[in-house]
Amino acid sequence: MLNLILSKDIAPYVRRHKRLLLVALILSFISSGLAILPAYLLQIFIDEGMKTGSDPVTWKIPWLAFESGVFSSWHKTEMVLLDNVSPNKLLLIISAVLLVSVYIKSMSIFIAGLLAAAFGNRVVKSLRIDLFKKFISMPLGYYYNKRTGELIARSTADLTVMQSLIAHIAIGLMEYPFSIMVFLAYLFYMNYKLTLLIFLIAPFIVGLVHLFGKKVKKHAVRVQDAIAELTVNYQESLVGMRIIQGFFMGVEEVRKFTKNAEFLYKKTMRWSCWHLGLGPMLDATVFLFLPIVLIIGKIYFNHTLGELIAIIFAFSQLYSPFKKLSQVNNNLKTLQGATFRVFEIMNIRSDLQEVSVPKILSRHRKAIEFKDVSFAYSSAKKVLKNISFRINMGEMVAFVGSTGAGKSTLLDLIPRFHDVTKGKILIDGIDIREVSFESLRRQIGIVNQEVLLFNDTIINNIRYGAPWKTTEEIAFVARAAYAHDFILAQPQGYQTIIGDRGTLLSGGQRQRIAIARALLIDPSILLLDEAVSALDTESEKLVQTAIDELHGSRTIMIVAHRLSTIMKADRIFVLENGQIVESGTRKSLLAQNGRFRQLYDIQFRSQERGKNKIFS
Ligand SMILES: Nc1ncnc2c1ncn2[C@@H]1O[C@H](COP(=O)(O)OP(=O)(O)OP(=O)(O)O)[C@@H](O)[C@H]1O
Ligand SMILES: [Mg+2]
Repeated sequence: MLNLILSKDIAPYVRRHKRLLLVALILSFISSGLAILPAYLLQIFIDEGMKTGSDPVTWKIPWLAFESGVFSSWHKTEMVLLDNVSPNKLLLIISAVLLVSVYIKSMSIFIAGLLAAAFGNRVVKSLRIDLFKKFISMPLGYYYNKRTGELIARSTADLTVMQSLIAHIAIGLMEYPFSIMVFLAYLFYMNYKLTLLIFLIAPFIVGLVHLFGKKVKKHAVRVQDAIAELTVNYQESLVGMRIIQGFFMGVEEVRKFTKNAEFLYKKTMRWSCWHLGLGPMLDATVFLFLPIVLIIGKIYFNHTLGELIAIIFAFSQLYSPFKKLSQVNNNLKTLQGATFRVFEIMNIRSDLQEVSVPKILSRHRKAIEFKDVSFAYSSAKKVLKNISFRINMGEMVAFVGSTGAGKSTLLDLIPRFHDVTKGKILIDGIDIREVSFESLRRQIGIVNQEVLLFNDTIINNIRYGAPWKTTEEIAFVARAAYAHDFILAQPQGYQTIIGDRGTLLSGGQRQRIAIARALLIDPSILLLDEAVSALDTESEKLVQTAIDELHGSRTIMIVAHRLSTIMKADRIFVLENGQIVESGTRKSLLAQNGRFRQLYDIQFRSQERGKNKIFS
């Protein structure tokens, strides 16, 4: 039931920690049960305990007795708890009972609160971890049209909302109806006819609660959207600070941010208005009806003033948990908004998944084969069209072509960052869709166009993919990537922290660290996408030598604009508009006088003119 109200998505999380919730609930019931005890004891305390003289007194409580027989029924009676005690002794006993009850009540409130907090926090902790796992397992394609700030907002702000509300709601949903039932029973016991009158107000109250709940939900979603918008704003500005300052757009950015902050303020106030408005509206409605109840009570039921006051008292006791319950409804609607936003991510089913029983791809020894591969990021346009080739183990092949031809995309298909739209890719004869991600990706070393490093030490960045490697092994690959010397020249050598995304290093240095990182995992397949583009000619030659040394023992696929990088390649594929238009050795391609010759000549000529060697 609770699961249904909270949302079926959170149900498994609530179930996982239900024992905590249960104990918290029992303690809440105890404390709310004990809440009426002081008021009740006070009456005995005054009426009996305060009697002067030494006449013994009796402590009785109202009770229901069951009478079996032909017409078995419940009837009101009294139960004697203590008989024949002196008033002073009764005072002492009552004081002691009161003390113990207050003590138990306080303790149960405290422990119930702690348990409820533990419950809420554990539910959200589990959800937080699962959400992160989801992020990690989501295919890269998911992130292309997502705003990072939005995802951050959902995993922080929305989860915080859930964290602050879930325990309160789960307990409130049980505790308040329980209190309401207790007081209703009491009222029926007192006067069932007048109690029935109370139900006249019910439709109005239900209407109000429903209306406010709907509004609260609507505005809560808008508030969370606005928070996400603001987070996006923070994130993009912080990441793009260099551009903002470079183009002197600070003032404009502040203006944009102010607008977003104002927007969030307005949305939050709207939400507050509906959230806080329900209480006073309920009060107004209920107290409008109260005189009517009194009048009807007097005229039609001939109640005495005393009876009416007693009923009004009980009524107000009933109203308090009811009002709290309506507030829980508002919170519930706020929670549902946040839950929806979090589970929108959690419930995404990705097409790019491991098969249920994946094969383990053993170390690649034979060949990588593309068989009639086509690929499109979206259905609109094919980026790769009917690509077929076979690269033998140990070969070094290069892909060249104009910008946007699909070279990076082609390399991305091998570690299954995307799945082919048509055709298949085989490694040693096995379709890569049939093998486990781990066995596939662990043997592919990747150096990308954009080098991504973490804000950590150089050594930790190099051993990112293989944390178990020793310092010697790390120094070995660093030497191979011609990074060792410049690393030692850093203030703390390998222990130097390289700043956010490696910003404290030069582009060329970052690239060499990325190469070392890729080499450390001892890959059988090396994918180098513009891996040496940021290096000067001299370091490029050195790194080139390092790559050449791997030639023969690994399969290497290189994408490069600078043709000097690919001179040693066994074969070259020329890619245009997603198709292979030429392929062969450098010599044969030059002899063909086709597209490759064209590219070669352009670069050669621009080199002659002493211009930058980059062409596209
Ligand atoms: N995430 C993406 N979503 C949609 N389209 C994309 C995406 N990434 C690339 N494209 C499109 O796919 C085509 C090929 O891009 P790709 O990055 O593979 O080219 P490239 O040959 O590596 O170019 P460059 O030499 O400039 O790196 C381009 O037309 C590009 O617009
Ligand atoms: Mg590219």
